[in-house]
Amino acid sequence: MKIDVLLGLQWGDEGKGKIVDVLTPEYEIVARFQGGPNAGHTLEFEGQKYVLRSVPSGIFQEGSVNIIGNGVVLDPALFKGEVEALEASGHDLKKRLLISKKAHLILPTHRLLDSCYEQAKGDSKIGTTGKGIGPTYTEKIGRSGLRVGDILEGIEEKYERVKASHMQVLQQYKFDASALPAIEKEWFEGIKKLREFEFIDSEYYLNNALKNNKKILAEGAQGTMLDIDFGSYPFVTSSNTITAGACIGLGVSPRSVGDVYGIFKAYCTRVGSGPFPTELHDETGDELRERGFEFGSVTGRPRRCGWLDLVALRYAIMLDGVTQLIMMKSDVLDTFEKIKVCVAYEINGKRVDEVPYNLEDNVTPVYEELSGWNTDMTKVRSESEFTEPFAAYIRFIEEKLGVPIRIVSLGPDREQTIIR
Ligand code: GDP
Ligand code: IMO
Ligand code: MG
Repeated sequence: MKIDVLLGLQWGDEGKGKIVDVLTPEYEIVARFQGGPNAGHTLEFEGQKYVLRSVPSGIFQEGSVNIIGNGVVLDPALFKGEVEALEASGHDLKKRLLISKKAHLILPTHRLLDSCYEQAKGDSKIGTTGKGIGPTYTEKIGRSGLRVGDILEGIEEKYERVKASHMQVLQQYKFDASALPAIEKEWFEGIKKLREFEFIDSEYYLNNALKNNKKILAEGAQGTMLDIDFGSYPFVTSSNTITAGACIGLGVSPRSVGDVYGIFKAYCTRVGSGPFPTELHDETGDELRERGFEFGSVTGRPRRCGWLDLVALRYAIMLDGVTQLIMMKSDVLDTFEKIKVCVAYEINGKRVDEVPYNLEDNVTPVYEELSGWNTDMTKVRSESEFTEPFAAYIRFIEEKLGVPIRIVSLGPDREQTIIR
């Protein structure tokens, strides 16, 4: 049995949460492999809306086991809030959520360090989610991080030791740490909540599950263009968001990866700073934001919007080994007369088909213009109802990318999904 991987191909917020939820009935286990509460994965069904940050998006499907893998960074305080909100709405997670002992803990001081480093960057801020993601992964690589397994023995002592080193840095930057005691209190309450869950060696759990022919879906967070190695560095997140990250973040071998589902929006968005070649600073950009309700699910920040970028998508498909594409939010384009798609870049007068080392260097998108379909697609429930211009848009993208679009999403609800 193989493990299938589902991940974002753009700058995050492609709609991963919705599709994991839709696909979970085909799987017995759903496992998050990287990122942390910087993620906000939205699911809508039966008139309810949920935003998940650390809990995998398979949690609402009866019978599925959900795993927070070793590659994830977990903030106990935010985890507690997330779990309690789900419990209040009648979802018992304890039987269905397992956590890797090797997942790293986001400490209260990591959150402070995140804002401290952002402030220090002045005009070149990354625009992080402020959740302490960068400092936690830095600590992991620096080999002084705390892990979920540490909760089982002497966490208070270990915490004080790491905190002391962070306080020195905060003092150096003259950072106001007065909020710390309140955050620490919530954090230790979160540790108590975490203890209610089963901590596992998720690499053994998953490899045994594969041996026993269980179907597993690995859920990515963020998107390929935010990958620490291949994204628009330094305006990226601090983990490997690509398919290879699933192997690292779950402890499964590259040979056990099966299908790779690559999710993209029918246009593009980005939240935070950094290059975005097809960004629109005009009314069309505003229209995409309003129609797509493009505001961050974690921070509420307006997302930057622009046309679909096939150069970046081809790059992502190459890095991820995508076998099936999933196109989201094309309903947002339902009212557009004309739709542009970036098919190449022009750099210093030359046409370029690859993502350059520095995306910021005078990149001008080369567009092809397609006819809009000008039809409300949100009530469409089968492919036979696709209008010709809509079918042509899908064919155009498939031909340019050389990978089939297996799922088309025409609205936020579970029901607004067409599997082809
Ligand atoms: P994720 O981080 O990749 O899981 O995506 P987010 O949840 O952050 O952002 C996607 C947003 O689009 C959410 O508000 C979803 O409810 C919404 N959404 C998902 N699919 C569709 C779709 O096909 N059409 C529309 N209009 N909204 C969608
Ligand atoms: P989901 O999983 C969109 C962006 C931030 C910032 C950069 C670094 O919902 O798609 P970080 O807090 O990770 O250090 O911020 O990455 N970012 C996201 N953008 N969707 C996300 O997650 C994101 N997670 C981080 O805005 O630009
Ligand atoms: Mg999101």
